[in-house]
Amino acid sequence: MNIQKYILVKPFLFVTGLVVTSLALAHGGAEGVVKARMDGMSAMGKAMKSIVKEIKSRSELDTAAIYQSSQIVVKHSSMIPKMFKEESIEGPSEALPKIWVQWDDFSALAVKTQDEAEKLGGLANEGADKKQLMKQFAAVGKTCKGCHTDYRIAKD
Ligand code: HEC
Repeated sequence: MNIQKYILVKPFLFVTGLVVTSLALAHGGAEGVVKARMDGMSAMGKAMKSIVKEIKSRSELDTAAIYQSSQIVVKHSSMIPKMFKEESIEGPSEALPKIWVQWDDFSALAVKTQDEAEKLGGLANEGADKKQLMKQFAAVGKTCKGCHTDYRIAKD
């Protein structure tokens, strides 16, 4: 295996308008693009949580809030291919090197998440009911899980 692949040191990365100039220690010391993508993933995780909370809430359904959260998922999933472009698994990264062996499959899974999240946003815009929204929420969640199963270090 090519050792150079694993020594990717880029102190300053310009990621889609986001200038990472700080070495702020978040996510256990992740830096640069690894930190940026963990932040993006975390934002999607939070958005998904707030969507399911909203759908399950007993009060009147706030479809505008669901739409907004779905757009966070659309945005960050569309950025996944860029965020993993370099073979970067240093620090606390849980990304598996096979991402870069099966790149087409990996990036197709990102597109799938984006598509399903767009569908969810569309349903929310149309004022779909809880049942329809929950079904589509599950479809989005399935795409997250699908990629994590294959390309992220399994958690205990
Ligand atoms: C195309 C593959 C792919 C898709 C789709 C994907 N993820 Fe991830 N996700 C990963 C990988 C790989 C990591 C590990 C990244 C790392 O540690 O460098 C990760 C990490 C995470 C993390 C942990 C971040 C951290 O701070 O350690 C969360 C939370 C997460 N994903 C949520 C989601 C959610 C929610 C979705 C769907 C809306 C999603 N992901 C879709 C591949 C994906």
